[in-house]
Amino acid sequence: MKTALTIAGSDSSGGAGIQADLKTFTAHKVYGMSVITAITAQNTCGVTDVHDVPVEIVKKQMDAVYTDIVPDGVKIGMLSSPKLILAVAEKLQEYQAEKIVLDTVMISKSGFDLLKPEAVNTLRSELLKLAYVITPNIPEAERLSGIKIETKEDMLKAAKALEAYTDGYILIKGGHLKDTADDLLYDHGKADWFLSERVDTKNTHGTGCTLSSAIASNLVLGYSPFEAVKRAKEYVTRAMSTGLSLGHGAGPLNHMV
Ligand SMILES: Nc1ncnc2c1ncn2[C@@H]1O[C@H](COP(=O)(O)OP(=O)(O)OP(=O)(O)O)[C@@H](O)[C@H]1O
Ligand SMILES: [Mg+2]
Repeated sequence: MKTALTIAGSDSSGGAGIQADLKTFTAHKVYGMSVITAITAQNTCGVTDVHDVPVEIVKKQMDAVYTDIVPDGVKIGMLSSPKLILAVAEKLQEYQAEKIVLDTVMISKSGFDLLKPEAVNTLRSELLKLAYVITPNIPEAERLSGIKIETKEDMLKAAKALEAYTDGYILIKGGHLKDTADDLLYDHGKADWFLSERVDTKNTHGTGCTLSSAIASNLVLGYSPFEAVKRAKEYVTRAMSTGLSLGHGAGPLNHMV
């Protein structure tokens, strides 16, 4: 069985973070493992608090995983502080981790800061260079590239600017566009668009986590980055479209679709 690791925060409501990632790995028949970086108190209505896991415990979780069941691929989500980012970067290099999908999480869907503002530079300089695929949403791509994004042409400009920080594939997600949900995959001058109508639903909790862990799943299953993104986007769109409606706010996806 192929194996994957998620390095991310816990979402008590089960729709995003570690929980969404493990459900997604399982739905892809991939064996999932987790390094928890933060415990969030949250539900479909919002995040009420965050407790960062001490850096030493994060490092020991990484050691425990990599000295036993070596993951075939990794998805990285919430890492809130510079010291956590540096610790994870160091361990990924120590263990020569492969197929790293970096979801550059900054702000929760409900508007809660998940990345301390002073950590943005550390994320950009220390982690982007280790990634095989990065998956910023539009506000994150703006923040990382310094380019304001209003149109799909702006997405392309931002992707080109991000090439200065990574040799990996750059996926700028279009979930925050107005009319469509088109995602851009950029690879050394080559742009591929994954076009999609917007699904008319308020239940979009964890779309970003689910997409990135589905990409990691498909990569460990042997698909190319292009195919992995294509299949992951189809999975997220389907998981968003089943009419599952849980909770009082932005409900979770149906990972078992
Ligand atoms: N309403 C929608 N209809 C169709 N696809 C969507 C919709 N919203 C988001 N997506 C898709 O979901 C995926 C995740 O993108 P999104 O921009 O929502 O990420 P995100 O902002 O990081 O999410 P999160 O808030 O969970 O971190 C992308 O493939 C995007 O195109
Ligand atoms: Mg996100």
